[in-house]
Amino acid sequence: MTADRATAHRPSADRAEALALAMRHDERLMRAVHPVGYPLLQAVRGPVRRVPGLGVVVKDAALARRVLLDGEGFSKQGKGASSDLWTPVLGPSVLLNMHGDDHRTLRRRLAPIFSPSFVEPLVQQALGEGAAALERSLLAGERVDLAAHTRRSASAAIALLVGLEREAVDDRLFQQIAGITGMVRLTRPTLRPAQVKSARAVLDALGEHAAAAYRGDESTVPGRLRGLGLSEEEALSAVGAFVLTGTETIAAAIPRIAALLADSGTLREVVDDEAAERAIAEGLRWTTPTPVMLRSTLVARTIGSVAVAPGDRVIILTYAADRAAGGFDPASDRAAGLKQLWFGAGAHFCIGAPLAMAEIRLVLAALRSVERAGRTLRVIERAPARGQLLPAYARLIVEARP
Ligand code: HEM
Repeated sequence: MTADRATAHRPSADRAEALALAMRHDERLMRAVHPVGYPLLQAVRGPVRRVPGLGVVVKDAALARRVLLDGEGFSKQGKGASSDLWTPVLGPSVLLNMHGDDHRTLRRRLAPIFSPSFVEPLVQQALGEGAAALERSLLAGERVDLAAHTRRSASAAIALLVGLEREAVDDRLFQQIAGITGMVRLTRPTLRPAQVKSARAVLDALGEHAAAAYRGDESTVPGRLRGLGLSEEEALSAVGAFVLTGTETIAAAIPRIAALLADSGTLREVVDDEAAERAIAEGLRWTTPTPVMLRSTLVARTIGSVAVAPGDRVIILTYAADRAAGGFDPASDRAAGLKQLWFGAGAHFCIGAPLAMAEIRLVLAALRSVERAGRTLRVIERAPARGQLLPAYARLIVEARP
């Protein structure tokens, strides 16, 4: 559907103003969560620039893709890259800190876990009832905290990944996990020993459940990993990585996308599955829930006009690259040319993307049903999540008004 068809009933100036308002709210969120880092990165000019003390900052989608696809030139292992942060916490072999053949082999072995045919029924089973309850509450005219709802679903998804009993997962666990990623600072490429110790304590506790699930049947992810031939150590490392990468991302993404659609009044334009896919892609493009990707330079290269040498840290501002395609508009095709850059590109492209998409689709379907019933979703109150790595709402109270 084109923007014109979707919005024939709305004057375009009103619609443009509503979209601008929605973007301002989201911008305020980014500033509130990262009051120092965000303005600093925003101030970096040009598609690529060396920033002393930080690294080579890339803000252009084509240059970012070139770096991400160049496995000979750039790595997630090495000085200032992901391995510096995560190897002490997760061990050496957890995809996001690997490179080359070892990485390719492990990805191949893990791929079946994230195939849509495995993920979609699991998401329905683990999160379907929560989404139905969300829809019922909104239709009953209740105010719902969408941020809390998403944290609960993200925690239910962790339960699935770790093999925990659903009841054992609560908001405290989510806060502990967000507490680990919240230790990361762009200006400090490694975690301090005390931080590593507290991160390990959280993951070790989860690891005990995952180890029990590993020895059980294949209905849990650790059990399935055993079925796929992974050793217990490999399976537990993989689960730790999934917990760290797949919890906060989703909990950050869904409320931000919902807020953009509600604030701009464009949720009502999401009238069919095709429009929903487009709105999700556009929501992910504009929010880019993991705003930054890191690489270490392996061999001398030039990125645009900047020459880089081995050891140089490359900081890809994915959010800036994604936003350069234009302002948020869920009826537009602005996301199409980016090939889902918000999920990365090349060898490390987000392996959890099918899971993330299934989770987002489920919530959006619930919100769409509410609009189909003649209600309009409005944001009543919002508060940013402070001290987290990813820009997110701590509270997003919504209501569906007749
Ligand atoms: C909206 C939600 C999500 C976003 C925006 C997102 C984004 C990303 C991005 C940008 C990367 C690549 C990072 C890089 O190349 O430096 C990545 C990798 C990864 N993601 Fe996601 N992610 C999301 C959800 C998930 C979920 C639900 C999981 C589930 C376990 C997950 C697991 C992973 C893993 C394991 C990697 C590392 C892959 C590798 O290095 O081969 N992600 N993600």
